Amino acid sequence: MEPIYEGKAKRLYTTDDPNVLRMEYKDSATAFNGEKKEDFENKGRFNKAITLIIYRMLEEKGVKTHLVQDVDDINLLVNKVSIMPLEVIVRNVAAGSFSKRMGVTEGTAFKKPIVEFSYKDDALGDPFINDDYAREMGAATEEEMAYIKQQVLTINEVLKEFFLKAKLRLIDFKVEFGRLSTDPSQIVLADEISPDTCRLWDVETGKKMDKDRFRRGLGGFMEAYAEVLERLSK
Ligand code: TMP
Ligand code: ASP
Repeated sequence: MEPIYEGKAKRLYTTDDPNVLRMEYKDSATAFNGEKKEDFENKGRFNKAITLIIYRMLEEKGVKTHLVQDVDDINLLVNKVSIMPLEVIVRNVAAGSFSKRMGVTEGTAFKKPIVEFSYKDDALGDPFINDDYAREMGAATEEEMAYIKQQVLTINEVLKEFFLKAKLRLIDFKVEFGRLSTDPSQIVLADEISPDTCRLWDVETGKKMDKDRFRRGLGGFMEAYAEVLERLSK
């Protein structure tokens, strides 16, 4: 069966239900807009399992997501959505592109979380945007941007507490939202939440437990993902 969409880390397939898709998690890791690329055994399995745990937990807390049900090791059923062309990033602690752009040492904690938006377009290099850009690019209305901002701040609080129980510090993360195919006025959390899309540092040692191990060639990449899954499964 041919996928209807193939991204850097996932493939999407149709199902018998026109409003439901099967999302398959791949074993490939990419960084720097796909410039660095490598396959890692079990990566799809780890990210699917971690995303499933987190999405179920978020649903219990009242956050609406695209999740329908678990399928197997690397597949989930999800509601069909039209992904909004926004990468929504929440930062609790300076790291990555924030530290680079602003010259602030990695590890500097913020007084309050920072919410930032990028326009999802690989050819443009996912440029940094604000609410006005989002409106003019037709990505989201002002009301939708306000809703998304409020949703990600709630998600941040829930995730911070959840990861802390697993002795992981949530430094920052990226999420995406989609409009339900059955009702485009309904915006739900979509895509994955995994160590590919979060920075997670061990609370005690500060060890990086996320995709920065791959981006920065630190080694022990899948070992870190396995440990995140194990800690979250307890
Ligand atoms: P950044 O510091 O590189 O902007 O990344 C912020 C967070 O967003 C970090 O947790 C990694 C995540 N992220 C993605 O999930 N996908 C991306 O394409 C990028 C650039 C970052
Ligand atoms: N996911 C992006 C890429 O594949 C960037 C990143 O996460 O660093 O290039």
